[in-house]
Amino acid sequence: MKPALLIIVGFLGCCSSVPVFPEKEKDPKYWHDFAQKTLKKALTLQKLNTNTAKNIILFLGDGMGVPTVTAARILKGQMNGASGEESELEMDKFPFVALSKTYNTNAQVPDSAGTATAYLCGVKANEGTVGVSAAAVRSKCNTTSGNEVTSILKWAKDEGKSVGIVTTTRVNHATPSAAYAHCVDRDWFSDGEMPMEAIQSGCKDIAQQLITNIPDINVILGGGRKYMYPKNTPDMEYPNEPKHNGTRRDGRKLVEEWKQGKKKAHYVWNKAQLLNLDTNQVDYLLGLFEPSDMTYELERNVKMDPSLSEMVEVAIHILKRNPKGFFLLVEGGRIDHGHHEGKAKQALHETVQMDIAIGKAVALTNEYNTLTVVTADHSHVFSFGGYTHRGNSIFGLAPMVSDVDNKPFTSILYGNGPGYKLVKGERENVSTSDYNHNNYLAQSAVPLRLETHGGEDVAVFAKGPMAHLFHGVHEQNYIPHVMAYASCIGQNKDHCKKGSHDDSGISCRAPSRASPLIGILGLLSLIQLVC
Ligand SMILES: *[C@@H]1O[C@H](CO)[C@@H](O)[C@H](O)[C@H]1NC(C)=O
Ligand SMILES: *[C@@H]1O[C@H](CO)[C@@H](O)[C@H](O)[C@H]1NC(C)=O
Ligand SMILES: *[C@@H]1O[C@H](CO)[C@@H](O)[C@H](O)[C@H]1NC(C)=O
Ligand SMILES: [Zn+2]
Repeated sequence: MKPALLIIVGFLGCCSSVPVFPEKEKDPKYWHDFAQKTLKKALTLQKLNTNTAKNIILFLGDGMGVPTVTAARILKGQMNGASGEESELEMDKFPFVALSKTYNTNAQVPDSAGTATAYLCGVKANEGTVGVSAAAVRSKCNTTSGNEVTSILKWAKDEGKSVGIVTTTRVNHATPSAAYAHCVDRDWFSDGEMPMEAIQSGCKDIAQQLITNIPDINVILGGGRKYMYPKNTPDMEYPNEPKHNGTRRDGRKLVEEWKQGKKKAHYVWNKAQLLNLDTNQVDYLLGLFEPSDMTYELERNVKMDPSLSEMVEVAIHILKRNPKGFFLLVEGGRIDHGHHEGKAKQALHETVQMDIAIGKAVALTNEYNTLTVVTADHSHVFSFGGYTHRGNSIFGLAPMVSDVDNKPFTSILYGNGPGYKLVKGERENVSTSDYNHNNYLAQSAVPLRLETHGGEDVAVFAKGPMAHLFHGVHEQNYIPHVMAYASCIGQNKDHCKKGSHDDSGISCRAPSRASPLIGILGLLSLIQLVC
């Protein structure tokens, strides 16, 4: 069996008319055995994991629609030298999958702020707003008060769990901000971005809310330094680049404020500082690695900036020390940005990076007591198609030319976006451009400076206690209700009475009938495992 060789042949033969694939796939037995193995595994799922989730991890791929997941799977496989289609993402290995309806209360095609309010606070909301109900109106400061809604991060903190946020965007961007802020405008990153009238009416910028609303978030990692410092404060990493100066008008130094009154609190702003921490000696960690969003993985300064996986690893080591467990939000935040810019290669590499981080989190936790959920806030008008052959580079051409304009086309296309391009009044001949380039703009049907979100459902992958409650087509705001129920936090805790573990159907359940072969010690260790 030489699948690697066959696949190389397959790549070389990408433009011939005969696709090449592993020889074993010609044998029905291969497919029967594969499916039977999968079936056996599926049958074990009848024994549901009804433990209490001590830990909850939510991975949010911003803009990670289903076509993005599939294309990233193929990319990750191809990065590993395989054909790609048959490979398995970490999220693919999760046993339960559902669909999430992503619309905002006032939008068929949603944005990341309204959706973040849904999957973090359990309430659907208007686009552009975070941590407020649909009674609040975007940019209208005086509609904030009384319409605040709290998030699962707060519910977890209220029960004594440690909590953390890790993102590749700025930490005060839409997704993370719904976890701690109540703001009618997602763009009010600091007071420097707010209209005077909103400040005078008492509305607070998101960076300020990060350190004051839930002052003891244990781990905060991402970008966004400039929003923490006063105007005319040079950035610590780019002191000679005025565009990275602080943005605050109120003169506050939020990093210093954050540190005040905390023990074992560390602020870091580069990779070495992060990786040199003794996590056993850290109760609070604030890491801000760029003035605004972190860079795309393909452009990351690997000396100065940590990868998403490295951030996740440090975060889990710190959060894990709490005997009551933790809630962690991890955002692959720049998948969305790659798509908006029409740069599919950037978006897909960001997705692969998030998947690698998922693998890291799964390896550092235990599915007996950790509920891990992977989902997206919304999709994009990204697609790939064109009857490409097996093993075709995900960034490659379809194996034919258009039967209308006789020109080749890439498999990846956008419905709209900056990749719309005419040459002498006609669609560009993509063979003359470098469609493998990191920043190649895939062609789009409608010219827009920024490609838009898509409106279709996104996937929810779940693993661990109560993961089976993701079982169909759900409203997006259902997600935190399941995570909270599973971990006995939030509003639905009737099933969590202490001391009733055996009949509650929840928490540390020993196997119902212990085999006589399992001695007392074995049973004890089993119980320990399950707890
Ligand atoms: C908010 O302020 C606007 C004027 O900017 C006013 O028209 C509106 O009635 C106010 N709403 C509330 C709820 O006070
Ligand atoms: C950035 O900060 C420096 C140092 O205080 C100052 O001289 C410069 O004018 C600032 N530039 C901008 C664009 O804010
Ligand atoms: C497109 O460009 C390629 C490469 O330069 C060329 O071989 C092909 O003939 C062109 N097709 C059309 C329709 O112009
Ligand atoms: Zn977006």
